[in-house]
Amino acid sequence: MSALDVKVAILTDNITGPPYFKAEHGLSCFLEVDGRRFLWDCGLTDVAVGNASLLGIDLRTIEGIGLSHGHVDHAGGLEAVLRVAGAKKVYMHPAAYEPRYLVAGDARVFAGIPLRREALEAMSSGLEMSSGPVEVLPGVTLTGEIPRVTEFEGDEPYLFVLRDGELVPDPFVDDQALVVDTPEGAIVLTGCAHSGLVNVMKHVIEGHGRIRAVIGGTHLGMGAPVEKVEKTMDFIQEALPDRIVVNHCTGSVVMSRMLDRFGGRFTPGNTGLVLTF
Ligand SMILES: [Fe+2]
Ligand SMILES: [Fe+2]
Repeated sequence: MSALDVKVAILTDNITGPPYFKAEHGLSCFLEVDGRRFLWDCGLTDVAVGNASLLGIDLRTIEGIGLSHGHVDHAGGLEAVLRVAGAKKVYMHPAAYEPRYLVAGDARVFAGIPLRREALEAMSSGLEMSSGPVEVLPGVTLTGEIPRVTEFEGDEPYLFVLRDGELVPDPFVDDQALVVDTPEGAIVLTGCAHSGLVNVMKHVIEGHGRIRAVIGGTHLGMGAPVEKVEKTMDFIQEALPDRIVVNHCTGSVVMSRMLDRFGGRFTPGNTGLVLTF
């Protein structure tokens, strides 16, 4: 395989980067591989659109949009993106449209994809729903379902999915990652890594070999079990990607621990951050 020029620009993140960029609880990453462009998640609102124009990124040039999973903080910006980008193909797992809820005490908050499926079909150039891997650009693959092989990564106590009129703990069957194959290893983009970051990394290593970089949410926020944090850190150490750029649902405690442990390999993510490979 010849060398590839890869650029990843973080359009939406929980933390702002350079002045004038906006932040929100969400994730969206623009990807460019040898001049071909793709959008990974869309954030919660239209923040990705504004930040893209600050970076001089023309969203009309993307060839498609991939959703990491069907949570609103990744899919809420779909409508705003499609309005600017024009009709593009949208890739997701077939279960991404299941109605999802966040439950906190007595409150039940809708946390699924806000744009109705019929509306998305009308605005996009088609939905491609797959539970298995899909190549979205040459050398760029959406993983499809991530097998659960670890014991310390599992469901979240406050995230549910509505099935047959009943709220059940969300198994996050729709959770997937994006992989760019390069000669130096795989560049992995996660959404929230609800499957567990170690499960994601193991799955990528099995199918694509060494991981060169991991970028995105880890779901290691405040309240993440200590065992999960420790074992994830240990696995990252073992796999030792050249670059570790975590953001979104990664808490500041885990970020600072990663900086201590991984030093120059680690970069905290934020809106406006542009990574080149
Ligand atoms: Fe998220
Ligand atoms: Fe999520």
